[in-house]
Amino acid sequence: MYTNIAEMEKELALCRQCALCREGNRGPTSYNGIADSPLIIVGEGPGGVEDEYGVPLVGPSGQLLDKALWSVGITRDSIYTTNIVKCRPKGNRTPTVEEGRFCAGHWLDEEIALVRPKVIIALGSVALKYLYGDNGRITKDRGRWFDTKYGLPAIATYHPAYLLRLTGQDLVKAKWEVYYDLKAAAEKCNELMPDYVLKAEAPANLLEIYSPRKKQRLVNPN
Ligand code: URA
Repeated sequence: MYTNIAEMEKELALCRQCALCREGNRGPTSYNGIADSPLIIVGEGPGGVEDEYGVPLVGPSGQLLDKALWSVGITRDSIYTTNIVKCRPKGNRTPTVEEGRFCAGHWLDEEIALVRPKVIIALGSVALKYLYGDNGRITKDRGRWFDTKYGLPAIATYHPAYLLRLTGQDLVKAKWEVYYDLKAAAEKCNELMPDYVLKAEAPANLLEIYSPRKKQRLVNPN
């Protein structure tokens, strides 16, 4: 429907199609990274920091994600990151399957059509359920490749917010699982697009990159 990402982003900023934008947030958040990446990461929905900055996964979960990606040779400025729902659910509640389906059916599907990635990473259960189906279970299905309605391969892994809640041996185990899932995604990307460089020389400081957008969102509240 859109001819480029900038056009889509403009429309997305104006989206008031469901009740999520009336849950006390600053309105829809967009994507971050670059629009012609072979790798797309799909998270759940914005938290407080993302609502402030207007872009996905820049808060505590995003910082942990950056570290995990770095360890497998990926930096966020070389890939495309987005969420299933674009508006922050009140109190960071988990968006419902219906909310996910409605928002992603409008926006994520457009994003994937425009970016045309080669590989999708689903972060956590909400993304898995949209991309795989309602019967997807993160504990059972993570780490296994599945086909999506876009005809693209996807792999799910634990959401970093889940890792942030774990301790001890559970945390060690889950971190290794995430490492191997992300490594599999990087390898698949390298296989499908061998010339594409997934890692910049230094990790990107996303909070700095998107600070102008934060200021803009403060002056133009939802
Ligand atoms: N969790 C997500 O899935 N996405 C965000 O943008 C922030 C936290």
